[in-house]
Amino acid sequence: MNDIDIEKSIKINAEKTDIELKKYFAQKDKDFSVLFDAMEYSTMAKGKRIRPFLVAVFCETFSGRTREAEIYASALEMVHTYSLIHDDLPCMDDDDFRRGVPTCHKKFSEPTALLAGDALLTYAFEIIADSPEISDLNKVRAISIISRAAGRNGMIGGQQLDLLGEKQGIDYELMTRMHSLKTGMLIKAACLLGCLSADIYEGEKIDKVLEYAEGIGRVFQLVDDILDVTSSSKTLGKPAHSDEKNQKTTYMSFMTVDMAKQVAQLITEKACEAVSDFDGGKLCELALFLRNRTK
Ligand code: IPE
Ligand code: IPE
Ligand code: MG
Ligand code: MG
Ligand code: MG
Repeated sequence: MNDIDIEKSIKINAEKTDIELKKYFAQKDKDFSVLFDAMEYSTMAKGKRIRPFLVAVFCETFSGRTREAEIYASALEMVHTYSLIHDDLPCMDDDDFRRGVPTCHKKFSEPTALLAGDALLTYAFEIIADSPEISDLNKVRAISIISRAAGRNGMIGGQQLDLLGEKQGIDYELMTRMHSLKTGMLIKAACLLGCLSADIYEGEKIDKVLEYAEGIGRVFQLVDDILDVTSSSKTLGKPAHSDEKNQKTTYMSFMTVDMAKQVAQLITEKACEAVSDFDGGKLCELALFLRNRTK
């Protein structure tokens, strides 16, 4: 399999994800429809849908239940979108563009963006809990996976570290921890949810999956740090040089772009190795694609 194929698979899965996600915004309370509009606006804007793809690929790898995986993928993409809405707020990174369009708080208002984020987070758990297609046991497991990944010892903890890394700075070790938390944890959740759709949730396979996920999660944020410096707002669909503006501690605070790319190469090779026993090829191709991505 080559890069073109994985790109095509991601695109096809993104289109399916968009159709799935759209259904969750069909009903709006007419008395406060602006909240639903803001939730839909940010969710349906053009995201790469990498996390839903990871759920799908792990479901496929372990012959899981596709419908169950689709619901997990939608829920996780809602949590991810919420994290982006809040990340862009003036009190956080203060960015005006996201997914190629004005950020939620620019399009609507700051308070509405705050609430749209809150509502997406809770909606994610609601759609899992209310799905007749998922067993009660897997509902609890999925909710545990997502809440741990998103919460205080996960994405939110990483965002707090990110704030500590502004201006006064944090050391290299803490920066890598920040990356594993703020970005890696939702990526890990995506991999775990794909496995869960095949009733795989603990044991040797999961250890390998987690090793892979940790690697690609770190590389995902490393590349995000590189692109912030080397790419343009037009290509990224979000402001370039946001990290510099906010005086963030990133990979670029410790090494050159070339060195960071070498680090990414090493981590990616290890990630591929971790899953070699059961990878049909797609997992490693995806890791390589994420390392080489340009947006
Ligand atoms: C952006 O995530 C935030 C990070 C964790 C780096 P993505 O690069 O996956 O953003 P979308 O979903 O494609 O907009
Ligand atoms: C984002 O890190 C991590 C999140 C949890 C949203 P960044 O702040 O670098 O993400 P972008 O560059 O705004 O997408
Ligand atoms: Mg940020
Ligand atoms: Mg940001
Ligand atoms: Mg960034």
